Amino acid sequence: MAKILKEMLNFSCSIRRLNPNPPPLSPFPLKSLQNRPSIRLMASTNTQQHRSTSDFLTIRPYHHPSWASNLNPIPSYAFSLGHFPTPIHKWNLPNLPKDTEVWLKRDDLSGMQLSGNKVRKLEFLLADAVAQGADCIITIGGIQSNHCRATAVAAKYLNLDCYLILRTSKALVDKDPGLTGNLLVERLVGAHIDLVSKEEYSRIGSLTLTNLLKEKLIKEGRKPYVIPVGGSNSLGTWGYIEAISEIEQQLQKGTSRTSFDDIIVACGSGGTVAGLSIASWLSELKTKVTAFSVCDDPDYFYDYVQGLLDGLEAGINSRDIVKIENAKGLGYAMSSAEELKFVKEVAETTGVILDPVYSGKAAYGMMKDMAQNPAKWERRKILFIHTGGLLGLFDKAEEMASSVGGWRRMDIDESIPRKDGTGKMF
Ligand SMILES: Cc1ncc(COP(=O)(O)O)c(C=O)c1O
Repeated sequence: MAKILKEMLNFSCSIRRLNPNPPPLSPFPLKSLQNRPSIRLMASTNTQQHRSTSDFLTIRPYHHPSWASNLNPIPSYAFSLGHFPTPIHKWNLPNLPKDTEVWLKRDDLSGMQLSGNKVRKLEFLLADAVAQGADCIITIGGIQSNHCRATAVAAKYLNLDCYLILRTSKALVDKDPGLTGNLLVERLVGAHIDLVSKEEYSRIGSLTLTNLLKEKLIKEGRKPYVIPVGGSNSLGTWGYIEAISEIEQQLQKGTSRTSFDDIIVACGSGGTVAGLSIASWLSELKTKVTAFSVCDDPDYFYDYVQGLLDGLEAGINSRDIVKIENAKGLGYAMSSAEELKFVKEVAETTGVILDPVYSGKAAYGMMKDMAQNPAKWERRKILFIHTGGLLGLFDKAEEMASSVGGWRRMDIDESIPRKDGTGKMF
């Protein structure tokens, strides 16, 4: 145990290089870890391929894939927060081009309250927070941010307080944000919520907003750890570097052993696609990665992903390893009737529920391109990464009401005898 704690301290020092303005190291990281009974520090030698349910919520030494050895810094520890590996299965989407196969990587099944793509990033980020002796986490995002919800749940699992700065419209910023979708989970686990308007967010910026809260908490004697929007910094990127290693192992174990021609994923803050693309390029997979952006323009994301790659000393141009397409449509978290109809049709024909904000838009973008350019996709084997976000769907319930299935009063013939007053359900 002492060895693990000592190594975690070293790990924390190496990770500090990720941030040009790192927070000072806590002088008491070992003490703060030992004082947290809910954190199980297991001297586990388990690697990703040997993860088991008994590792859940324990910290494990991280063994990076050999092809990632030249990246720097390399994390030494990660928490086991998700249920990995997530399944890969064939996705029987209708109207595919000739001989095109689409497969799904079910990262939406990485957990329940703590689910989706953010879990992979949080495994590394929260290990760093704990190593730095943090007693609370600050993060920021949109009002229905899946990342904020996942962070709030993971923080509580580790006995850390969680502070969320949530962006909403000017008209709603002074009102109770309600209990829909992600908000219900965040409020149930007792996350502290600060609302800001979209105007304040774009004028002040997420970095300054989180720093303001951080300074306030430090003055109150707290030790906050800040996670950026979407968990997308160079450390968080390791989550999807590790996902590629997981996919490699799944392919090796599979019967066909054939690889994929394309990996397709939604892009919201850039960390997921950065990890997938650098890892696919470094590993033997060499699968072409395409991301569908759901908020900013492709140029913004090429630059953002470049920053993440530079933070890992990857020495590669983002434009050489990923293609970013625009699937923003009406705007971030705004869905057209056609997009919502698509989400409904996919659910009805395949049983897979896409969230309308991320994977729904990415899959819609993919299918639209397939319809417009079928020859480009013919005979390709595609792996679509479902990044989760089911709770965000509840925010769209009213908009979807007209397209979802109906209901009826059960028709029971008058002649069927009724038993009154038994007081039993069955
Ligand atoms: C459900 C879901 N899918 C995809 C994304 C996009 O991932 P990233 O932020 O790493 O680009 C996000 C978050 O932004 C998300 O919440």
